[in-house]
Amino acid sequence: MIEVSALNKHFGANHVLRDCSLAIDAGEVVTLLGASGCGKTTLLRCIAGFETPQQGRVTLAGEDVTTLPPNRRDVGFVFQNYALFPHMTVAENVGYGLSVRRADRKTMESSVAEALDMVSLTGFEDRFPKSLSGGQQQRVALARALVLHPKVLLMDEAFNALDAKLRGAMQIELRKIVKRVGLTAVCVTHDQDEALTISDRIAVMSEGRIEQFASPQTIYDSPTTAFVADFIGAANVLPRKAADRFVADDQGWANDVQSIVVRPENFNLTPQVVPGAVPGRVDFVRLTGPDMAYEIALDGGPSVRALIDRHDHIQLDVGDQVYVSVRDKDGCKPVLGAL
Ligand SMILES: Nc1ncnc2c1ncn2[C@@H]1O[C@H](COP(=O)(O)OP(=O)(O)OP(=O)(O)O)[C@@H](O)[C@H]1O
Ligand SMILES: [Mg+2]
Repeated sequence: MIEVSALNKHFGANHVLRDCSLAIDAGEVVTLLGASGCGKTTLLRCIAGFETPQQGRVTLAGEDVTTLPPNRRDVGFVFQNYALFPHMTVAENVGYGLSVRRADRKTMESSVAEALDMVSLTGFEDRFPKSLSGGQQQRVALARALVLHPKVLLMDEAFNALDAKLRGAMQIELRKIVKRVGLTAVCVTHDQDEALTISDRIAVMSEGRIEQFASPQTIYDSPTTAFVADFIGAANVLPRKAADRFVADDQGWANDVQSIVVRPENFNLTPQVVPGAVPGRVDFVRLTGPDMAYEIALDGGPSVRALIDRHDHIQLDVGDQVYVSVRDKDGCKPVLGAL
């Protein structure tokens, strides 16, 4: 449905997108995830038509749209700040795109009603934006994009203005709506939890490049680079030499592998010495809710983070001697690069 091929975008001397390529299937929800300034918005704006790349191609449903303006592409765009018109009612806001296209009154009313139904705001037609909660305003902005039945929905940090709890609820709601309507969606976020919640696939970006494009499970379980491992979830990115202490005969890791990733839940802690375990000392203990999170300073370094299910009933305090081993050697993943 969306194909981005070898896109390069410069703003003056600033090379903002570097050979970005993505192929997104119809009905997929994809997020562009990365730190501030890595080029997420610029890539989204190239797909929407608000920016034109110097090199590369964008195709939508097989049509080359690289140089077409936004209104000639079949895309709906939801901006970071919703940009609702304050002097217009909810119905007028949602119907705005249709009135620009000179739709007749009947089409307009039924389409607006349908779009408001999709976002569960039936009955809010005559309200004004300022009388709505943040989450409701967010859904009006979504309805305004959905009313035009775009092939593709593009959203730029659309949940930023919401508090944490509402934000979590809206993420689930968005995914349900997009799946029900059968849209193809590309969302920008710098929030890894949001990416894990809404996406079929995540494109992790760094300095204008796409580092990895894969499902949330693959990104979490098999990151390809140290950067991706560190960006998604909590990770111990260990120098190869340090990891050798846990995985005695290295698993046939390739020569160019520099680091080994061990997720905190893959470490096991015991107060007594066990064969193959590495001794260390508890540096910090924190309750996360279901788990206890430990920082362990290994004898001879480095420090690692371990997450232990509270049902395991391990009692360890700061300063205690502890022995660290890995539960699953296959869960120790070789990656390129170092931190
Ligand atoms: N119109 C522009 N003119 C000049 N430079 C720009 C323009 N738009 C973006 N940039 C630059 O391009 C780089 C990437 O910006 P972009 O907005 O794509 O980042 P982002 O990943 O969306 O960041 P954030 O998470 O902060 O929104 C930044 O260095 C930014 O300053
Ligand atoms: Mg941005």
